[in-house]
Amino acid sequence: MDERAFFKLSCGLYMVSSQYNGKAAGCVINTFQQVTNDPIQVSITINKNNYTQQIIDHSRYFHVVVLDESADMDLIGTFGFKSSKDINKFDNFATAKDQFEIPYVNQNVAAGFTCKVKHQIDVGTHIIYIAEVVEADVLGDTPVMTYAYYHQVKKGTTPKNASSFQKNASTSGYRCTICGYIYEGDPLPEDFICPVCQAPAVVFEKV
Ligand SMILES: Cc1cc2nc3c(=O)[nH]c(=O)nc-3n(C[C@H](O)[C@H](O)[C@H](O)COP(=O)(O)O)c2cc1C
Repeated sequence: MDERAFFKLSCGLYMVSSQYNGKAAGCVINTFQQVTNDPIQVSITINKNNYTQQIIDHSRYFHVVVLDESADMDLIGTFGFKSSKDINKFDNFATAKDQFEIPYVNQNVAAGFTCKVKHQIDVGTHIIYIAEVVEADVLGDTPVMTYAYYHQVKKGTTPKNASSFQKNASTSGYRCTICGYIYEGDPLPEDFICPVCQAPAVVFEKV
């Protein structure tokens, strides 16, 4: 199977967040889409190992924002490669709260949606949540970040919890064992810091 075929699928980059009993969680996803128009329903696909999945499972509400092209790797690295179990991801970014007290990032975003879970499907590693949109807002005019732009311009990578993770992607150099970023060169400088997840050179492995 040529896994590069999956990079031909066009999708955007989003951030989903939720809160339950005062604990907030959020992560980057590329699996947000509209599924029906009447009522307006959307779906997200979340890995069971992501803390955000556990919080959504309890709260039954989530908020999705659409990232725009100005989103930097600090924002994506925090929400896409670290866990809300360990840190408060919202601390260092501009945020707001929706009507259900769910915090969401409101910098570098084009639109936001408040969603109430109606159905869920267990698909093994992930849960697909289908939710009704309660509120929708346009938050900016900057062009939205596509998954292709993230890979080609931002040189971003995808961690193993993402639905679109490719374990056999071929390349050479040194791979960050935390986020999958590839340093193309040899040797890897001892003081190298991963530009995606800020991990030190010692966690890199030769590929
Ligand atoms: C580009 C990109 C796309 C991602 N897409 C998804 C996705 O669709 N579903 C998912 O569960 N995780 C996805 N992830 C992985 C989560 O963002 C990541 O595992 C995050 O650290 C989970 O944080 P949490 O434990 O706070 O929930 C993606 C990450 C990146 C960088």
